[in-house]
Amino acid sequence: MLIDGHNRVVNYLRVSVTERCNFRCQYCMPDKPFSWVPKENLLSLDELFLFIKAAMDEGITKVRITGGEPLLREGLDRFISMIYNHNPEVDLALTTNGYLLKQTAEKLKNAGLKRLNISLDSLRPEVAQKIAQKDVLKDVLAGIEEALRVGLKVKVNMVPLKGINDDEIVDILDFCKDRGIEVRFIEYMENSVANTTIKGLLGKEILEKIKEKYMIRKVGREGSSPSFSYLLEDGYKFGLIDPHKHDFCETCNRIRLTAEGYLIPCLYFDEAMSIKEAVQAGDIPKAVEVLKTVLRDKPKENRWRVEGNETSSRAFYETGG
Ligand code: 5AD
Ligand code: SF4
Repeated sequence: MLIDGHNRVVNYLRVSVTERCNFRCQYCMPDKPFSWVPKENLLSLDELFLFIKAAMDEGITKVRITGGEPLLREGLDRFISMIYNHNPEVDLALTTNGYLLKQTAEKLKNAGLKRLNISLDSLRPEVAQKIAQKDVLKDVLAGIEEALRVGLKVKVNMVPLKGINDDEIVDILDFCKDRGIEVRFIEYMENSVANTTIKGLLGKEILEKIKEKYMIRKVGREGSSPSFSYLLEDGYKFGLIDPHKHDFCETCNRIRLTAEGYLIPCLYFDEAMSIKEAVQAGDIPKAVEVLKTVLRDKPKENRWRVEGNETSSRAFYETGG
């Protein structure tokens, strides 16, 4: 079992396999490229796997593959099958923008992937295009249908932005409800590389919009998830992720690994340690030692708001959100 310096059990590893993306979302990387990490700086998927395997042996039971856009990384289905084969019980999930899912969902499912979180910010092609800076909606919708068809468990993420897609909160909720998919509304998290003119909605503003159509009942947080669940009267469940409230650090169970081999103890925290050297030298016990050091020093709370700082300086596409 892995336990951090504040007595929290850490069993969830998020692995970013690439910072690259085929979208340029306003809230994430509107102005890229300026400096992609050169491919040779990345750990290979085999190297990443060696670390993941060791981390699973130490107590990691849930692995989520993120990016950037993870489906851009070559060899991903083989990577997934390596993790799955090491322990088929692992809760193996992936977060994607959905654009490439139509071609890949079946392969991912066959490799052992269980769950997918797909971003869907609008059901209007021109609004989706405005947010992603590319005409993406048709492919994303086809990707969602394909993921459902092959039997992957799907959740949808929406980031409501003022004056852009905040009039679609109920439409997205209904779209997901009709398909038996859980939707999670995510408060926009200010960060230094996002478009500076956009403004997100706070959780309570998101709930207000939903209350215009539905009666809702609070359920609560499930385990260590940052998502707070709500129920509609017909039993449909949706989630709200409201990091501006800062009340989920206490049960944090996660750690992040970047494609370059940095272990990041907290999204809103600048410290990180690299496992790259150890893994590339074949010294996995050393990499596990680094993991334990990072966990020992994992902060009690995020530093998002420290000294009035409301903005994260680390780009989400590096850390995998
Ligand atoms: N604020 C909130 N959510 C974000 N995501 C990416 N950047 C941000 C941000 N600045 C979320 C998107 C996407 C997932 C990969 O991360 O919802 O679904
Ligand atoms: Fe790509 Fe996801 Fe960032 Fe959008 S939010 S640019 S899809 S990594």
